[in-house]
This record gives sequence, structure tokens and C-alpha cells, in this order.
Amino acid sequence: MINSLDFVKVTEAAAIAAARWMGRGERNTADGAAVERMRDRLGEMQISGRIVIGEGERDEAPMLYIGEEVGNGGYPVDIAVDPIEGTNLVANGLPNSIAVLAIAERGALLHAPDTYMQKLAVGPKAAPYVNLDAKTGENLHAIAAALGKPIDEICVVILDRPRHRELIEEVRAAGARIRLISDGDVDACIATAIPSTGIHVAMGIGGAPEGVLAAVAIKCLGGNFLGRLKPRNDDEAKRATEMGFGNLDRVLRIDDLVKSDAIFCATGITDGDLVRGVRIFDGHAQTHSILVHSGGIVRFIESTHRLVAQ
Ligand code: FBP
Repeated sequence: MINSLDFVKVTEAAAIAAARWMGRGERNTADGAAVERMRDRLGEMQISGRIVIGEGERDEAPMLYIGEEVGNGGYPVDIAVDPIEGTNLVANGLPNSIAVLAIAERGALLHAPDTYMQKLAVGPKAAPYVNLDAKTGENLHAIAAALGKPIDEICVVILDRPRHRELIEEVRAAGARIRLISDGDVDACIATAIPSTGIHVAMGIGGAPEGVLAAVAIKCLGGNFLGRLKPRNDDEAKRATEMGFGNLDRVLRIDDLVKSDAIFCATGITDGDLVRGVRIFDGHAQTHSILVHSGGIVRFIESTHRLVAQ
């Protein structure tokens, strides 16, 4: 029997390791520290875990690579990790970086290639009404109607990238508000399913592996996530085809991304919409995490850890 609180300990450890590097301009060092702590912690768990979304292919990542077996033995699970979601955010001390872990039955998480994905994420009320092939304005009006709000109250989160210039214009033309973010679309997508964040929809193109992570949390929360792979070049398209994605234009529905019950947890590294960042004081670190299970129970967990000298 897996105790889901044990998974929170994994993201807590990664977040504390990453937070020590906040604002120091060293994204790779921060990432390395978080990866190492996450792997150590996973190694202590009574699971037979297999990394399906991780730091990259075996030849490019020494730890938490795709296919790596983790855990002490026990219940077989597939694991998706992002020890730092938003490495630039940590390096620059900006909001919304999180350490992330998702767990599901073997074979239940989509093995997303390391490419881009077009994404559309909403919370439970708007879940049935979105369509990745609809025009931006049509989706926004449908979301506003589902939420019972005028369109000028709808807040859309979009990654601030040149590729989103047209999308931004379409959202403005529809009359909705926009929050542009520099990085970290996992946090943004999940925030759509937590009403208190004031974020109603996330749109645009970001990392495909991050899409699967976000989909796990959103599925647990009863929201909706739609995706479509967007390879950046022929090599990425070829890799996706080799991995079994026949029609790259196909809309990936939330049940294609996450096929079983699942657990998602994330711990804030820097302060964010979902969770607060790590606070370090008097030899202690305080962490704030979110834990969600299929069934929709959301737990916010605050923990204080005594730091050991390193
Ligand atoms: P990293 O944590 O790997 O730096 O990713 C951050 C991120 O902003 C993701 O949240 C997002 O999906 C992706 O990068 C967007 O990629 P790009 O920066 O190439 O637009």
C-alpha cells in the first residue's frame, strides 16, 4: 500500500535543494541538486517505479532518465518527474517554480516525446465545453458561459513567446484578460482547476512532457486538458513517429494522457499561484505542497524541516 504522503516528501526534498540556488543564476546547478535529492528520496520508497517522463533519454541524463527503475521494490508504478519545473524561474528568483511528481499504474501515462505540445486547460465547470479545434474566441465565450462570467472577467495564462503573438491578439479581440508568464506552464495549467487562483484557462504551446504532468493533476481535479504534439523540426517529428505517434495532428484527450487513477504532488520552490515557495530560517526550511488524488481530494501541506549541514 502506497502512502501518498511519502511522495510529498520527494518533492519537498527536491524543492529544498533547488531553493538553496534561488536567484543565483545557475539553472543547471539548481536542477542537478533537485534531481539528486529527488532520486535519493524515490530510492527509499517501497515501490517498483519506472520513470516514464524525466530528465531525458538515458544517454543524455545521468539520473531520472526515461526508463530508469527507482524505488526499493514494491507496487509497480509509472512515474513522471520534473525536479524543477521552471529552471529559469529558480535561477532568477521569479515566481511559480515547483518540484513535481506524478504516479500512475504501469502503462497509464503517455510517454510524451521531448517536443512541444499545443495545450488548452480549464477547470471542472468549463471542462465539457472546450475544443482544441475551435477558434480561440469560441472557446473563451464557451468558458465564460460555463463559468457564468462576462468574458472580460476571464483570465487566460499564456507563455510569453513570439510564437504566441497571434494567440494573444485573438484573446484580446475576444475581450478576455491575459496573464503572460515567462516560464512554468504546469503551474498555470493546474491553476485553472483551482478556483481561488483566479486563472480560468491556459492556452498555447509549451513542453509536451509538462503537458502530461499538468494533465495528471487536472484529471484528478475534474478539469480538462487537451493537447496536440507540435514537433519543432523533422527530427522531433521522426522521434515522435518512432515512439508510436501515428497521426501527429491528433487531439490528445485527457484520458489519452492519463489512463488510470493517479496521484500528483508538487512543492513550491519560489512563491506561486498554487503553493508558496520554500522559506529558509534558523536552520529550518518550511515547504508548501499540493497533493491531489483521483477522486478530487486536494490537500495543501505545510511542513517544517530541520536542515542538516551540507
Ligand atoms: P524548464 O523547467 O525545463 O526550464 O521548462 C520551463 C518551461 O517554461 C515549461 O513550463 C514550458 O512548458 C516550457 O519551458 C516552454 O518551453 P520554451 O521555453 O522552449 O518555450
